Amino acid sequence: MKTTKKILVLLVAIALFASIFTMAGCDALSGKTKIGVAMPTKSLQRWNQDGSNMEAKLKEAGYDVDLQYANDDPALQITQIEGMITNGCKVLVIASIDGSALGPVLATAKDKKIKVIAYDRLLMNTDACDYYATFDNYMVGTIQGQYIETTLGLASAGDKVYNLEMFAGSPDDNNARFFFQGAYDVLKPYIDAGTLNIVSGMTAFEDIAIPGWKTESAQAKMDDRLSAFYADGTKLDVVLSPNDSLALGIANSLTAAGFEVGVDFPIITGQDCDKANMKNVLAGKQSMSIFKDTRDLADQVVKMVKAIVEGKEVEVNDTKTYDNGVMIVPSFLCVPKYADKNNYKELLIDSGYYTEADLA
Ligand code: GAL
Repeated sequence: MKTTKKILVLLVAIALFASIFTMAGCDALSGKTKIGVAMPTKSLQRWNQDGSNMEAKLKEAGYDVDLQYANDDPALQITQIEGMITNGCKVLVIASIDGSALGPVLATAKDKKIKVIAYDRLLMNTDACDYYATFDNYMVGTIQGQYIETTLGLASAGDKVYNLEMFAGSPDDNNARFFFQGAYDVLKPYIDAGTLNIVSGMTAFEDIAIPGWKTESAQAKMDDRLSAFYADGTKLDVVLSPNDSLALGIANSLTAAGFEVGVDFPIITGQDCDKANMKNVLAGKQSMSIFKDTRDLADQVVKMVKAIVEGKEVEVNDTKTYDNGVMIVPSFLCVPKYADKNNYKELLIDSGYYTEADLA
């Protein structure tokens, strides 16, 4: 054979070899199995941590990782997942923006025998969601409700009445209803008994939900409620906030309206232990947050990925709770904890999640 012909044959062989590997979910050059990780946004601290934990732990386990953030844009997330499929990812780990928007692209993945793990948020109305790994979302709400119950001493409040306002998360996120229901189930008996009084009268999920978990929207909604119902000096004792991005907006609104820590600043709940919020907890502008150790969730998901790739049984601990409209998705639920100014050192600093400087 002439040299040029030999080179050509070699090139064709390499190309063939590469495409076979890509089809098998392996990166042609490294020979490693490729995993796609789709995260919703970089705009909230927690998702950055989720993404980098997942990337580090998957690489440590010997996989190639295609990590993408979708800027809270469901259409962009679809494009990114399409890319992951084309690039030969063998397993997709997806924290969705709109849990119901991914049906067609997930169907494509299923056709190609790619396994899908819903990360933190459930993928809705699809039969192409193989597993779900999350924190116990109902328990998150329960802990928030119980924090309010014990901090105000509701069980022994007698004739005392406390004024409460409630918020809920994004309606396109299946978790949002679980958080709200968990909290509401604890608070409802006190609302019924009149111990908790919702001055605005707003209790329906649709009326109190904040699309996109936006800080600014929560702030604007709190501004509205303060001027409509509290401008006359009516006391506000407690605000149920499902997570930290909302809690931040609520605290900003209260501060702007002249509420002062140690004087009339209400109890505010939260979730995620974002740095800005833990600083607020230390400054008295938020009472608690839910600690969801993203390292635990990442560990669990990496275990799932390994089991899938090696054809072993995937560990789950809940096969009843998460109905996505088409099927009940086998789930692994991690345990959330509450953090406040009394236990944050042990929970967040001693565990290496944050340094003291992060919260200074
Ligand atoms: C939820 C998640 C929460 C919170 C929220 C806003 O799906 O479970 O921890 O981060 O999204 O991003």
